[in-house]
Amino acid sequence: MANNKKTAANGFLAGTDWVYTDLVKEHFLNPRNFLMGDETKYPHDAEGIVGNPICGDQMLMMIRVGKDGEKQEVITDVKWKTYGCASAIASTSALSELAKGRTLDEALNISAEEIEEYLGGLPKHKFHCSVLGHEALASAISDYRKKHATK
Ligand code: FES
Repeated sequence: MANNKKTAANGFLAGTDWVYTDLVKEHFLNPRNFLMGDETKYPHDAEGIVGNPICGDQMLMMIRVGKDGEKQEVITDVKWKTYGCASAIASTSALSELAKGRTLDEALNISAEEIEEYLGGLPKHKFHCSVLGHEALASAISDYRKKHATK
């Protein structure tokens, strides 16, 4: 039986760690809430931009915040763009869907495991890519809170 943790002679991981699920591929090819064009034209309440020190990729996330019934400070829209890889694109696409309709605190609590579950799995060595979107979202939420802090 093959051991998918084994390192091949060429130094790469061998086995099923290479495999992207159909859902990851679908989100990579058709990313949800992806910001096309000029971000300065997108009306937003806050934004965050972060870089991933592991690979040098960057992510910009912009959010709109409003009210949903009794819930205050709900994320009503999310837009993002990145220089990131396929995993970063697919996981941020998933994150952007998961974040809409949640309060700021609920959105901050979206875990990498929840994103991975939403996508039906991610290769383990691409786990750090899913963190990029979450950090950008956290940065955007922090930006929103700074702008709306009571003085
Ligand atoms: Fe940079 Fe995936 S390798 S975000």
